[in-house]
Amino acid sequence: MTKVGRNVTKFKVGDIAGVGCVVGSCRSCDNCTQDLENYCPKMVWTYNKHHEDGSRTFGGYSDKTVVDEHFVVRIPKNLPLQGTAPMLCAGITVYSPMRYFGLMEPGKHLGVVGLGGLGHMAVKFAKVVGAKVTVISTSPNKKKEAVEQLGFDEFLISHDQEQLQAAMGTMDGIIDTVSAAHPLLHLVGLLKTNGKLILVGAPIQPPELPVFPLILGRKLVAGSAIGGMKETQEMIDFAAKHNITADVEVIPMDINTYIIQQNPQLTRN
Ligand SMILES: *[C@@H]1O[C@H](CO)[C@@H](O)[C@H](O)[C@H]1NC(C)=O
Ligand SMILES: *[C@@H]1O[C@H](CO)[C@@H](O)[C@H](O)[C@H]1NC(C)=O
Ligand SMILES: *[C@@H]1O[C@H](CO)[C@@H](O)[C@H](O)[C@H]1NC(C)=O
Ligand SMILES: [Zn+2]
Repeated sequence: MTKVGRNVTKFKVGDIAGVGCVVGSCRSCDNCTQDLENYCPKMVWTYNKHHEDGSRTFGGYSDKTVVDEHFVVRIPKNLPLQGTAPMLCAGITVYSPMRYFGLMEPGKHLGVVGLGGLGHMAVKFAKVVGAKVTVISTSPNKKKEAVEQLGFDEFLISHDQEQLQAAMGTMDGIIDTVSAAHPLLHLVGLLKTNGKLILVGAPIQPPELPVFPLILGRKLVAGSAIGGMKETQEMIDFAAKHNITADVEVIPMDINTYIIQQNPQLTRN
């Protein structure tokens, strides 16, 4: 933080501050008054959208930004910045529904579909509270490295009928992070009675979802989008307390440097 406005109370110059996906909202609607600015119809995205005065938002590609302190998150000193920045999007996107739907609790069995930016954060949050985590994936080649690095409990190959059968009816909830079209029926089958399937990936095609398997087990299918500012701060503080950061590969902004680093046989000319 290089400057603070006259009325700013949460920050002083020199503080480490984070700005996530949201830089504005109406602050007065039902959603905003419940700390759910992320669902405000007037929510302003941080990138490539417009402020109320019409000026454009430039997101993480700008080297300076001016943001109302309400939409700024305090970053505790022990968190390395590179691994913290993605949590303001990927982290809160899984943290919020895991909290809201009661899936981030000791002893709960959580399924995580897709082990990318969102999925690996879900695994870290769930493991640190003592939940059991099963990663559900189509790519068996990720298994060994992923189990060792992230320390989850089981790895389920989603097209392996035998593995699926064995896991039917065992999960309290599933966080589905996959954005490509994929069947949901077998995921519903993995849930216990009262189990919850939470969709945070966004396939364009409407999913095929038979209703009977939901009725027979009072199962819930829900969606969720990022999180409000209060919860985003809570997530960052939780991450700091438990030493959780996103796994990142840091690459230089200069793409030519990057290509040469990755391909040392190439030389600059
Ligand atoms: C700062 O606070 C004063 C007093 O509450 C208010 O009149 C003024 O509009 C505020 N300035 C900004 C930039 O919000
Ligand atoms: C709150 O958010 C919902 C979307 O979840 C939206 O449909 C609704 O209009 C919002 N409420 C108000 C009062 O703006
Ligand atoms: C957090 O990580 C740092 C650096 O890796 C380590 O020194 C510290 O002991 C960790 N603290 C906890 C609570 O795990
Ligand atoms: Zn609002």
